[in-house]
Order: sequence, then C-alpha cells, then structure tokens
Amino acid sequence: MTQLPGLLDTEAIRKDFPILDRVLHDGKKLVYLDNAATSQTPRQVLDVLAEYYEQHNANVHRGVHVLAEEATELYEGARDKVAAFINAPSRNEVIFTKNASESLNLVANMLGWADEPYRVDADTEIVITEMEHHSNIVPWQLLSQRTGAKLKWFGLTDDGRLDLSHIDEIITPKTKIVSFVLVSNIMGTVNPVEAIVRRAQEVGALVLIDASQAAPHMALDVQALQADFVAFTGHKMCGPTGIGVLWGRQELLEDLPPFLGGGEMIETVSMNSSTYAPAPHKFEAGTPPIAQAVGLGAAVDYLTSIGMDRIAAHEHAITEYAIQRLQQVPDLRIIGPATAEDRGAAISFTLGDIHPHDVGQVLDEQGIAVRVGHHCARPVCLRYGIPATTRASFYLYSTPAEVDALVDGLEHVRNFFG
Ligand code: ALA
Repeated sequence: MTQLPGLLDTEAIRKDFPILDRVLHDGKKLVYLDNAATSQTPRQVLDVLAEYYEQHNANVHRGVHVLAEEATELYEGARDKVAAFINAPSRNEVIFTKNASESLNLVANMLGWADEPYRVDADTEIVITEMEHHSNIVPWQLLSQRTGAKLKWFGLTDDGRLDLSHIDEIITPKTKIVSFVLVSNIMGTVNPVEAIVRRAQEVGALVLIDASQAAPHMALDVQALQADFVAFTGHKMCGPTGIGVLWGRQELLEDLPPFLGGGEMIETVSMNSSTYAPAPHKFEAGTPPIAQAVGLGAAVDYLTSIGMDRIAAHEHAITEYAIQRLQQVPDLRIIGPATAEDRGAAISFTLGDIHPHDVGQVLDEQGIAVRVGHHCARPVCLRYGIPATTRASFYLYSTPAEVDALVDGLEHVRNFFG
C-alpha cells in the first residue's frame, strides 16, 4: 500500500462512513471521488439526526413544552458550534440558510434593498471573478439587471489562477461589493484573499467570500480572512443537505434589511407595518432547517475531533500524489493548477478528445464516482476552450489506493475508446 507523509488513519476513519463499504455493479467496490459535489455522512452525524427525530422533534422558538425547548436548545447549540468552528466573534453573526446559494443570494438582496452607504445602484459596481460557481455569478447578474450597477470580474491566467494584474482598475471607488470564491470548485485553485481584501478595504467595498469548497477542507477563521460575509454549505462537510451558513459582521447584519419576510423574523407586526427581530433571526423567516442544523453541528464536532489542519495535510498529500499520477496518463490535461501548492483537492482534467461524459460513464462501470460537465462554472470551460471536464475530488477518507484505481480506470477508458 502506498504510504505518504501526512495521511490520516483512513482505515479507522472509513469505518465511520457506512456508504463507503458499498459494492456496486459487477462486485466493484465504490471509489467515491465526487466530494466537491457532496461529501459522505459519518455514523456520528447519522446517529444525531436519528436521535433528533426519535426524541426531540418540535418547532423551535415557539412552544413552551419540553420538546420545543429541547429542539430550540439543539438548534441554537448548533449555531454555537458553527460560530466556534469559524472563529466568529459572536454567535449572532451566524445565519442558517438552506445552502450556500441561498447565503450568496441573501447578501445580493440585502444590498439591493439597502439604504446608503450599502445600496447598490446604477452609479456603483459589483466585482466577481471568472472562476465563480454559477451561484456567485447569477445573483449578481440579477442585481445588476435590477439596479443598473455595472458587473465586473477578474479573468484567469493560463494556469488556472486569478489574474490580479489590473486589480486597481477592477476594484475602484465605485465598487460596492467584491464577491469571490476562496477555493474553486472546478479547478481547486486557492485564491489570494489578502490582496483582494486589502484593495477592497482601500476603496471601502464590502467583501463576500464563498467558502463552500474551503470550510470542509481547511481551518476557516472569519476574523483572519477580514471579510464582511462568508458563505458555505453543510453537505460538503459531512453534514446533511438543506443547511447552509452565512456569516456576516454584526454591525452590517444590524444595518442591512431582511430579504424574506415571515414568522420568527419579526419583533411586532401590525396590519400597516412590522419591526424586525435582531440578527440572526431577522434573516431566518419561517421554520428553519432544524434537524439539518443539528446535523451540521454534529458534523462540525466530527471534523473538529479529527482536526482541520490534519484533514488539510491529508488532502494535500493525496492531491500531490494524484497530480503526479495523473500527469503520467497519456493525453491527460489538467485544467487548473498542476501543482499541489495553493490548491484544494478537486482536480479537473480532459482526456484527449474523449468526451468527459464518456469518461465518467466508463469510470462508473468500474465503481468510480467522479463528476463530469461544466461543474456549475461554465465560464471556466469557456475560458479554456473546452465543453466540459472530468473532476475527481478527494476528502478525509480518500486513499492513495483510490487514486491508483482512478488512474487504472482512465487507462481502461483510453483502451475502450482506442
Ligand atoms: N457545487 C457542487 C459541485 O461543484 C455541486 O459539484
């Protein structure tokens, strides 16, 4: 078995994930390399979800009965856990949403409806990058269409990094918000937060960081990032689907208007007007994803018990090994950084002129799960002149043997298509 420095004890960790024992068609063992799309769920989280529904299920913040109090305590306890996980100065800065897309849309709508000095209007500019997931492009296009604000973006270098050479022309005194991804979901690129935040602060622009592909894989410290908002999702970090997070600086959350109206986000309501509850409740209209938040709290406990720095070191070792092995596959072109430095554990590639959907299909027949397509980041494919990529993405339970299985699988794909 290949041994690499920094690897976690995957034999023990994999016992926590029952799904990894699945045997697929023709007796092929599952090789799950689609972690950037969604991660698998450990027994520790599954047990908490089952216990929640078996013992505590009720609506939160509403009842005086025992179950309602227990559910509220568990839901708010999850907020404490998430706040500690990202080093938030206050638990009131953690808003639960249904996913990262909703978190990003929430900020776009807050700014669209805000008063000065935050208001986005026809005299202002919005800055994103060409490597964003569609969830960090479309909300800004919508806001730009609605308000007349100009949408600008950073382009990409040939090796899959942000081209910051014109940063002072892209982020200007007219910029209201700079929204960018910390780790690219399609190329794995880790972006230089400090340089972008420094320029945004110089011109007084707000900064929103999409940390969907970062929160699961590295220690995330919202204070060190010095952003104004950070968004991520639960299902990529061992939690359930249906739960996302928006962290925002407290004074901003106090000043900015709510987006969704409804129960639980109000202080008082009359037929003419309403006043709002303080953040985070102001932004959590209606019954929230209670079990999902509790599940995310359990996922945070699980990841913390292993250690985010150890998880990052494990993934770095796996990614380095994978890049080295993939580079030996004839006709394989990595789209994005071809070194393990400043990159995450998602690796996109093309294989000669074989369509990625065919690559994915033949890999699937061997039990290997990868994602194919444009990965909701179509501008990246357009930039590099390709219709799609095959993407392998790793996590804390990924092993060198799974990298070997992928490389063998790709040999099989090449033979299959001659
Ligand atoms: N954003 C997810 C991915 O990159 C769905 O696959």
